[in-house]
Amino acid sequence: MTAPDLAAEHLGAEYFADPYSVHARLRARHPVMPVVLPGGDSPAWLITGYAEARAALADPRLHKSMPGWGPEPGSVFAVLEQHMLNSDPPDHGRLRRLVNKAFTARHVERLRPRIGAITAGLLDGIPARSEVDLLASFAFPLPITVICELLGIPTGARDDFREWSTTVVSNTAPADVTYAHATAMVGYFRTLLAAKRREPTDDLLSALIAARDSDDSLSEDELVSMAFLLLVAGHETTVNLIASGVLALLLNPRELDRLRASPSLIGGAVEELLRYVAPVSHATFRCAAEPVEVGGVQIGRGDAVFVALSGANRDPARFCDPEGLDLGRDSSGHLAFGHGIHYCVGAPLARLEAEIAFAGLLGRFDRLELAVPPESLRWRPSTLIHGLESLPVRLYPAGGGTSGQ
Ligand code: HEM
Repeated sequence: MTAPDLAAEHLGAEYFADPYSVHARLRARHPVMPVVLPGGDSPAWLITGYAEARAALADPRLHKSMPGWGPEPGSVFAVLEQHMLNSDPPDHGRLRRLVNKAFTARHVERLRPRIGAITAGLLDGIPARSEVDLLASFAFPLPITVICELLGIPTGARDDFREWSTTVVSNTAPADVTYAHATAMVGYFRTLLAAKRREPTDDLLSALIAARDSDDSLSEDELVSMAFLLLVAGHETTVNLIASGVLALLLNPRELDRLRASPSLIGGAVEELLRYVAPVSHATFRCAAEPVEVGGVQIGRGDAVFVALSGANRDPARFCDPEGLDLGRDSSGHLAFGHGIHYCVGAPLARLEAEIAFAGLLGRFDRLELAVPPESLRWRPSTLIHGLESLPVRLYPAGGGTSGQ
């Protein structure tokens, strides 16, 4: 790996809690920097500049898969990793086309009443005035219920999904735990898909099974991997947009008041929260299939590249006063959903869920308070997802009632 006099920075565990200030420091040195990520042992390129991030995400020479890379064929990891987000053309297009339609804005709009009902039900269950973990009681169950219903996965195992997903996105999970959870996931999906093949239901997984059985465009392992990707990507991200978005509003009370006073701001507010929070902090792993120059830096063949979406979203060369939350600004062009061929397929669903979640929460509760000092909040050990472990709050209902019901 070569670069203009850039020595690799070793990033420590503090990067998990506050990636933003690390990005600002790195970007000031160079928008494309060699780093060693926390929990890692070899250098990788970390891109924190907006223009450089966009260029890298659209560069076909930065591959998702390379011959000889990746898990041992036949292992549980090899099964789980056969999804579109790990694939390059032409496989990527084949896999993505199978689900694209289910996630278009027009299609997901039909889910609005159901998402509203799930939201209302969860808010009913939140006790007023006492300390409650908003992540466990609201931010997590809303997206996991929506994606499970869409895919046709029973929600009974949702605590298992949360545990598995936490391991998948962690930089520090022990190898034996990762292996055990990957094995459990493959087993779970194989059993579920076999049951759906015997008795098809009206959901996306049954539709994918039918597609596989009719034209064989999806192998059995790809089917398992697709279910895994849609389940994990379909909740982990939105959970953290809702939880970290609520935290951002609590820490910026003038913006919270502004949203309360003008509910019509909600669409723009969600975009600004996406820019500001960027729940997917790093885009997933990419690897240079040939030498590539990004931002004047020569990235060598075989080098690992991570695009810091949360860094790009706060690049002062692209967004004015980027460290400030401004719900009225034009945040379009943010990279929270990525860019290029892997641009988030679930973006319309995530936007709809977030709008309904924020509007529902603010409509139901007049006052929201953080129940602990912000410095005591704990962040998950992940560079992929920037997310809280929990969000203890106190909520005071509209109209001065005694409960959230
Ligand atoms: C706030 C919520 C969400 C955020 C911030 C988000 C972010 C992202 C990002 C950044 C990528 C590209 C990653 C990369 O290039 O390495 C991505 C891809 C993807 N997302 Fe989302 N996502 C969200 C919600 C969802 C939802 C609700 C689904 C529903 C299933 C979903 C499904 C996917 C899939 C399948 C891909 C892979 C697309 C491809 O490879 O072509 N996401 N998402």
